[in-house]
Amino acid sequence: MDKKKVLVTGGAGYIGAHTVVELVQSGYEVSIVDNLSKSDRTLLDGIEKILGMKVSFYQGDCCDRQFMNQVFQSAGTFSSVLHFAAFKSVGESVEYPLLYYQNNLNSLLTVLETMLENRVSDLIFSSSCTVYGQPDKIPVGETAPFKKAESPYGSTKQMSERILEDVAVKGLRIVSLRYFNPIGAHPSALLGEIPLGTPNNLVPYLTQTAAGIRDKVTVFGNDYNTPDGSCIRDFIHVVDVGDAHVKAMQFLQSRDDEKLCEAFNLGTGVGVSVLQLLEKFNAVTQVNTPYVIGPRRPGDVEKVYADPAKINKTLGWKTKFSIDESLLHAWQWEKKLRGIK
Ligand code: NAD
Ligand code: WQD
Repeated sequence: MDKKKVLVTGGAGYIGAHTVVELVQSGYEVSIVDNLSKSDRTLLDGIEKILGMKVSFYQGDCCDRQFMNQVFQSAGTFSSVLHFAAFKSVGESVEYPLLYYQNNLNSLLTVLETMLENRVSDLIFSSSCTVYGQPDKIPVGETAPFKKAESPYGSTKQMSERILEDVAVKGLRIVSLRYFNPIGAHPSALLGEIPLGTPNNLVPYLTQTAAGIRDKVTVFGNDYNTPDGSCIRDFIHVVDVGDAHVKAMQFLQSRDDEKLCEAFNLGTGVGVSVLQLLEKFNAVTQVNTPYVIGPRRPGDVEKVYADPAKINKTLGWKTKFSIDESLLHAWQWEKKLRGIK
């Protein structure tokens, strides 16, 4: 039987690339679209090394309808689209809000239009826990209200989900996955995160500090209302995130509804503080990473972690990797990138 064909937008990026590996290893034929605006070919090479085969890659912009139509027509019929392509930096979105609205909303709209034109019904969308802001109740469930977004980036994810609810009429079946904090790297150390410039996110900053590229990690605040005073997050291994996409896609394929729009939290359900994470990282890697306590970072929520009951039950998905493994894999990837033994 012919393999099902899947389109992955943003597949040269961090989460998309890990998902491509999970998809191919689950028996799907993948085409990647990426304009390499926030990436290069490094992860495409990593994907091919892990899989030992070529994966078809189309370089171009998801906002370009003509290009997207060409991809849909030349690749054959896609059974599903996994849409990762977006800009994701919170700070950059505050500086260049129009760029974020332009890219993140236009790419989604164009993908949707191209799907409808080519009669492809199933979409998995990369959403974020950022849609919740600081929830009133933790662990946060999918029915929690969206608070005012802290950034234009967060706002694009809220708006995208709203658009998806509205367009999920006849002919479109949609799952939004609200990722918590994806971290780590492929256990082979052939794929991982490649931050552009100085990392904003904790784990890449930590691994770069351990590698000697940065002097020290600054812990943004130790006066929060949490047991050790630092913020609490739900850190999830990126391969588990990839696996959840395969399950979400199969969930849609198993349904015969003509329209569907569901959102799922994609987190472990376990809250870990910034200071706990630092301690775990040092224990797992045997590196004594220097850190200092600094002021709070504006816009940070105090604590957030997922109630993953819906995704566990409906998709039959649960995490396979521990936080220690996530940190070890992140470190192995950093060492490989920097040529550290
Ligand atoms: P990433 O920047 O590593 O990957 C995104 C990829 O999309 C890049 O390769 C970039 O070149 C590409 N891209 C961007 N705009 C494009 C366009 N218009 N056309 C074609 N390609 C385009 O980011 P990531 O961490 O892999 O994130 C993937 C998705 O998950 C994004 O939608 C992001 O908002 C979402 N997300 C990420 C996180 C996280 O912590 N990494 C958390 C929640 C949600
Ligand atoms: C985690 C914790 C920081 C760096 C972001 C986006 C969110 C989602 C995931 C896309 C926080 C602390 C960090 C440092 C620190 N992305 N920290 N020192 O902010 O939870 O979530 O990525 O959708 O939308 O906002 O992730 O890794 O930046 O921070 O103390 O140098 O680590 O204050 O408490 P965040 P993060």
